[in-house]
Amino acid sequence: MAKLVINETNKLGKIEPEIYGHFSEHLGRCIYEGLYVGENSDIPNVNGMRTDVVNALKEIQVPVLRWPGGCFADEYHWKDGIGEKSKRKKMINTHWGGVTEDNSFGTHEFMELCRQLGCKTYVNGNVGSGTVQEMSEWVEYMTFKGVSPMADLRKENGHEEPWRVDYFGVGNENWGCGGNMTPEFYANEYRRYQTYVRQYDEKNPIKKIACGPNVADYAWTEGVMKTCFRNAPDFMHGFMDLISLHYYTHPEGWEIKGSATDYTDEGWYKTLNKAYYMDELIRRHGAIIDQYDPEKKIGLSVDEWGTWFTVEPGTNPGFLYQQSTVRDALVAGIHFNIFNKHCDRVKLACVAQMVNVLQAVILTDGEKMLKTPTWHVFHMYRHHQGATLLESALSGVGETGMDEWKVPELTESVSEKDGVITITVNNLSISDAKELEVQFAGDKAMEVTEASIVTSADVHDHNTFDAPEVVKEETFTGYRAEGGKLSLTLPKSSVVCIRVK
Ligand code: AHR
Repeated sequence: MAKLVINETNKLGKIEPEIYGHFSEHLGRCIYEGLYVGENSDIPNVNGMRTDVVNALKEIQVPVLRWPGGCFADEYHWKDGIGEKSKRKKMINTHWGGVTEDNSFGTHEFMELCRQLGCKTYVNGNVGSGTVQEMSEWVEYMTFKGVSPMADLRKENGHEEPWRVDYFGVGNENWGCGGNMTPEFYANEYRRYQTYVRQYDEKNPIKKIACGPNVADYAWTEGVMKTCFRNAPDFMHGFMDLISLHYYTHPEGWEIKGSATDYTDEGWYKTLNKAYYMDELIRRHGAIIDQYDPEKKIGLSVDEWGTWFTVEPGTNPGFLYQQSTVRDALVAGIHFNIFNKHCDRVKLACVAQMVNVLQAVILTDGEKMLKTPTWHVFHMYRHHQGATLLESALSGVGETGMDEWKVPELTESVSEKDGVITITVNNLSISDAKELEVQFAGDKAMEVTEASIVTSADVHDHNTFDAPEVVKEETFTGYRAEGGKLSLTLPKSSVVCIRVK
């Protein structure tokens, strides 16, 4: 019998809410149509933001939102996106679909969206094709309170008070679309650019994020850490507060990718195996970061993760629009359990992307909207946000899978907040249910306060605009709580949450 032993007396650290963050790029229908329809749209909106989408996002307690890219960030010139909308520059979004970008969604609109969502702001600057001055002025425009050319311009554009920028990314994927730089070149550029990301609001300093590696590029991590990490005393700022990591799950490799909905049992395990690889990436990049920063002053920001499949048939290949099935729910559960367990180093993560792109939590079609299985897993895991990670370990759990595509039968993480313990467990098997006995160190009687599950009879199931609730979070009844013992029957291919006090 598989066992989950929880030592509720051993508290391992805080799970930052930002681990449950999101990414929104000027890509396909993420910003335009998905989040922003403009004030004159027939689709109900507040200041141009879709009311239905904003409400659905509020339910999952979005802690932080990253914008404007992605690859788009290193081609974005922020001054094109301020001022009178009809006068804003139009440009071609060369990265994503070659469509016209009219810049009607810019800095003011992003800040308004974050205000409506009640989330922190993560703005990604342009190193690849922008200047130090441009980046420095953007920070001044957004955050300077007094009299200055950029603060005055912001006021002229209708925003008297500065905004709060919680995180600022100094470039994106500068090893690739952000300038094809070497780690040495980027690291020196980083030191220069970040100097001018001024802290105008010392009480709420901007956390600076250096561009980290692509997948397993350990040399990049080493190169950036070596040059950019400064072990500053508490009264001084270091050069960096976080370093990013980007890793996407594409089962058939970068060229082919594979269908989002039509996959074999092998495709199921291949995908989950590749998602589980995130654990090794965090451990190995973490070990390099540890050499420079053993006190864990800086965090790892996994600010792009998720599945990347072949686009839905008939859609613009540059728009990266894909469906989301039970398999994506498992991918989300696997990532979250990994992030929680590494909360000593992982301080921020963003699913790519929020709406209509890659492993989106919401899909839209005109005025219609649906919540994907990934949305439901975000909803289920929201209890971990800001909670304390508890020591927990599985035993009697083997591997499952096909050929070389093996994964653990179960993954889990456990946290505690306000006296309630949240246990999240994924059963990765495509065919077998699993019995699990949960034991607490205190051996005291536990009362189950709530339990829910995300699964479906067929792993290919997904939500459509005609049937939007095929896969959703439902009440979980497969548990027995007796005499301080809790036993669960975890259905095949399921994400389960059980809360006890
Ligand atoms: O999320 C899509 C793209 O993937 C981003 O623009 C880029 O940063 C990454 O390669």
